[in-house]
Amino acid sequence: MSPHILVFDSGIGGTSVLEHIKASIPSAHFSYVMDNALLPYGLQSEQTIRSRLASLVQYIEAQELNVDIIVIACNTASTSALAATRHLTTIPVVGVVPAIKPAVRFSCTNHIALLATPATSNNAYTHGLIEQFAQGSRVDRHHSTSLVKFAEALYWDRPINEAEVATELQRIGIATKVDTIVLGCTHFPILKPYLKSFYGSGVTLVDSGEAIARRVRSLLVQVNNCPANLDANDLLIEKPLQFYATAPDKISPNAQSIKLISLNSFSD
Ligand code: SIN
Repeated sequence: MSPHILVFDSGIGGTSVLEHIKASIPSAHFSYVMDNALLPYGLQSEQTIRSRLASLVQYIEAQELNVDIIVIACNTASTSALAATRHLTTIPVVGVVPAIKPAVRFSCTNHIALLATPATSNNAYTHGLIEQFAQGSRVDRHHSTSLVKFAEALYWDRPINEAEVATELQRIGIATKVDTIVLGCTHFPILKPYLKSFYGSGVTLVDSGEAIARRVRSLLVQVNNCPANLDANDLLIEKPLQFYATAPDKISPNAQSIKLISLNSFSD
């Protein structure tokens, strides 16, 4: 049986992680859930995000979706609600958090920048990651909500203005001594061509996509206790990807194949 992996994000950012998981486990069956009614998560409270994920777990269990692994492919949701979500379900939950530890290894100047949403950049979980893994390095924290909007537009083929992206990157103001930027929002790898051309080849952009794909694969091997099952030839037929959204009308005028679901926000 093909494993069923459910990837969750506030919007389309998680597709940058989904791509890596698909390449690593082509036999899997995927569902992709976007809570775009509350996009951007970077401006939501931790309590609201926790309640949306609790509601997602309820939905998965009530609909009997037979999910083998939930991937919270959103740094904001993971840094705010990963532990709380894991308490709510027996399904393994993998989170995506800023790749501070690998960035420290890549940096020669020991001067790193974290580029994330306001919520990720400021929350206690991220502070803890920096304290734990970046002692001896300088980590400047920067945030942007506009970059999330640009990535959404690009994904849905809406025109984006390169000059506006450059103006936002100028406003963010990453120091010239920084040689490694952690893309601490899964939307940002979608903007890589713009980021690379703005920051130049002397700056390494680090994201968590490949590491998450390895983690998901090793968890599935543990759960199934049989790696061969993941790679069996008869399973390597591309499965349709089911998209779910909380506000399908916000993404594309011809999004008929996207299922509408609703998630609750319990009161703060
Ligand atoms: C957002 O909805 O603000 C982006 C979420 C993220 O990937 O951190």
